[in-house]
Amino acid sequence: MAQVDFRNVVKNYGAFKAVKDVSFEVGDGEFVALVGPSGCGKTTTLNLIAGLLDITSGEINVGGRRINDLDPKDRDIAMVFQNYALYPNKTVKQNLGFPLKMRKVPKPEIEKKVSEAAKLLDITHLLDRRPRELSGGQQQRVALGRALVRDPQVFLMDEPLSNLDAKLRVQMRAELKRFHQDLNATIIYVTHDQLEAMTMADKMAVMSGGSLQQYDSPERVFEEPANLFVAGFVGSPAMNLLPALATERDGRVVATGDGWELELAPRNAACARASSTDKIILGARHSSLSLHDGEKPGSIPARIYTVEPTGDLTYAHANIGGKTFVISTDPQHRLNADQQVWIGFDQERLHVFDAETEQRIPPG
Ligand SMILES: Nc1ncnc2c1ncn2[C@@H]1O[C@H](COP(=O)(O)OP(=O)(O)OP(=O)(O)O)[C@@H](O)[C@H]1O
Ligand SMILES: [Mg+2]
Repeated sequence: MAQVDFRNVVKNYGAFKAVKDVSFEVGDGEFVALVGPSGCGKTTTLNLIAGLLDITSGEINVGGRRINDLDPKDRDIAMVFQNYALYPNKTVKQNLGFPLKMRKVPKPEIEKKVSEAAKLLDITHLLDRRPRELSGGQQQRVALGRALVRDPQVFLMDEPLSNLDAKLRVQMRAELKRFHQDLNATIIYVTHDQLEAMTMADKMAVMSGGSLQQYDSPERVFEEPANLFVAGFVGSPAMNLLPALATERDGRVVATGDGWELELAPRNAACARASSTDKIILGARHSSLSLHDGEKPGSIPARIYTVEPTGDLTYAHANIGGKTFVISTDPQHRLNADQQVWIGFDQERLHVFDAETEQRIPPG
């Protein structure tokens, strides 16, 4: 396995800029998830690494070797696609062995590699079947196996689980994670499912509009989002974002909005002071908020819009000055639509964003 260094890479399709000066390094044996909304440039990025597309400028190194001018077949990289692209008329065994046969690997070695891959992926009993005789999850494992037999330096995977039903996705997610651990493989994995990325990856690369927004561990991306885009994209339900005006009052900072005001704790006041203008955006995860039936110091008034019980948790949707907030509460807490409530903030977990630059202002 090898490390990947993606440096100042630009990809234009004619006048359209699909990848805008993106840089990131993937360590040897790391699992990196590339996430972002549809059209943000994820597949393009993978295809550049695989060599299926030429880069416009920049440099890609794999294992210390510059590969951007190499043919795809010389890059020693295996790609697993969303539609597994198995050969329908070949057996599982033939499908697995095909990439090696193409490379004129001696037959006994093919046999050995195929049987090892089949064992690892638990598909030995399926070797004589054809793809149509397999379930979606089994086909997915064969597709993985076909990448695996090549012993590549890097695995690239483009939404490999998106054709599977919800239950199978969760199961395959765990299997892929295990596959990564067992092989110590370098994997770059594209998904638009941020939960999949959070649960599997060592690092997340969050993209939007062809630009890399943040490259960090899933914990950091969740706890310390770089900007409003990342804050809104990562986490479900999404982070609540509340525009406010920050005003100095007797040495304190008060955030005000339509029909509410909140005195900011010192750490957040300092952030608000560092904003480029007095316009800020407060960010609060549903779990950092509390719901009260009566007024409490440090809380702001809101009106319940709707209540969603999910079993363990209930999500209350509430309106604050025209913005909808989602707050998780105890299922025992009785709430009705249109009820007046007060929302309390855990200010240790409150984020302050600069409304002008859209960047998070880190405390301290
Ligand atoms: N051959 C092409 N010519 C022109 N534009 C293209 C071409 N291929 C892709 N694009 C554009 O480049 C952008 C990035 O496409 P890409 O396929 O990388 O997105 P993606 O992040 O993989 O999206 P999805 O989640 O929908 O798969 C999109 O706006 C797309 O329309
Ligand atoms: Mg794509």
